[in-house]
This record gives sequence, C-alpha cells and structure tokens, in this order.
Amino acid sequence: MQRQIFDDYESPSSAAADLVLETVSQNPGAVLCFATGNTPVGTYRLLIEKAHARQADFSQCFCFGLDEWVGVPPEKSGTCHQILHEQLFKPLGVRGTQVHLFDGMTDDISAECRRMNEMIRQKGGIDLMLVGIGLNGHIGFNEPGCSPELEAHDQELHESTLASGQHYFNEPTPIAKGLTLGLAQVRAARTVLLLANGAGKASIIQKALEGPVTPEVPASHLQQHKGALVMMDKAAAAQLT
Ligand code: F6R
Repeated sequence: MQRQIFDDYESPSSAAADLVLETVSQNPGAVLCFATGNTPVGTYRLLIEKAHARQADFSQCFCFGLDEWVGVPPEKSGTCHQILHEQLFKPLGVRGTQVHLFDGMTDDISAECRRMNEMIRQKGGIDLMLVGIGLNGHIGFNEPGCSPELEAHDQELHESTLASGQHYFNEPTPIAKGLTLGLAQVRAARTVLLLANGAGKASIIQKALEGPVTPEVPASHLQQHKGALVMMDKAAAAQLT
C-alpha cells in the first residue's frame, strides 16, 4: 500500500483525476469502479474538466458503481445511480451501455448480486476502483465485521452510515440497507485508490493504515494490497505516525 499526502483537498482530487485519465489513456477498455459520497466530488469535477481539455476518450471503458441504497428509486437525487450518471458519466460521455450499477429497487437481492458478480467476471475484473472511507472504516457498504471474502451482497447499515447517508438526499429518505461490492472484489481490483480528506477522517485513517488488519476496520485490508494507493490531505493524515 502506498500513501500520498497533500496540502489541501484540491490536490489529491487533481492527482486522482489524473490517475483515472492515465488509466484510460493507457488502456482505453479499462474497467473502472466508482464510489459516491462527498470525498470524490472534487475528483469528478476535475476529471470532467481535464477530460474535456485533453479530449480524453471514455467511449471504450466500462464502469461499475460500488454500491447503492436499497429501496430508493434510482432517479431520486442522492442515489449512487443519480449521482454517478449526473456528476460523472453524462459529462464524460459514458453511455448507459458502458455502465453497470446495482438496482436498489430489485425484489431479488440474491439475483441482483449474482448479476453484478457475473458482470465483473465477464469484464475480466476491475482495473481501477476509486473508494472513500466511512467514519467507521467501511469501504463501499462493507461495514465493520464484514468478511473479507464476500463478493456483492446486501448489508444492514450502521447508525453512522445512515446518518451521513441522509445528507446526500435533499429530503428525509428512509434508508436502512445497502447493496455493495464485497471486500473480495475490492481486494481483487488491480488498483484501489482510497481518497480521504478532512480532520473528521484522521482517526479512522490512522487505524486503517497503521492499525491491525481486521474485519472491524474494513479498510485495513488494503494494507495487504500491493495495488492500493491512499491519497489524502494533511488533515486526514494528521494522526499518522
Ligand atoms: C459511497 C461509498 C461510501 C463512502 C463513505 C465516505 O458510494 O461507497 O463508502 O465512500 O461513506 O463518504 P464521504 O465521502 O461522504 O465521507
């Protein structure tokens, strides 16, 4: 696992955008996977700006969504589906046929997870996965205690995840569960880029990067991933030794 520490929020966002562009420029058919949340907002904004300036071609890549809220209609503002399409795919010119996201409205969660797992296998695995970290160390919706061997699954969400999740919606939205790629798929991605910013993440970043590798801190599994790269600002890195 490598780590890079930057002065401010904008710099890792810019470096992360560059890494996505470099990945697609070296391998136009790259398989990408994106998280939502507050952390990558700057990355996606800069990625779109840089992609337009460099006339980057995203027409052959394939994109997965990392997770989704169960029971929230996809078009509703705040879902991973809506955010990724509006903030990333449409501005980049990525077509619907190049994208596979969880259907949070499915009435057959096992089939939905199988569909996701099969699609990832069919695409030959994920080249670059961009993730954030929850205050409790989650990646995607892999909450503390999740087996590192799991593939796509549904997950009861912890109080802190539900509380921060509510902020993504513009009105109170009933949420309790998520669908997520599992830690087995995070660990299998050829490159995992973990982004973190702000003092609020300092304590969990220290545990994830320097504490024991344990299911209690799902992000700690990245310590054993040779292709893991953590880009963070000084505030998030403040408790690292
Ligand atoms: C969202 C996701 C979550 C977030 C995490 C951090 O798709 O996968 O794991 O990355 O909860 O959220 P923010 O970035 O809002 O602090």
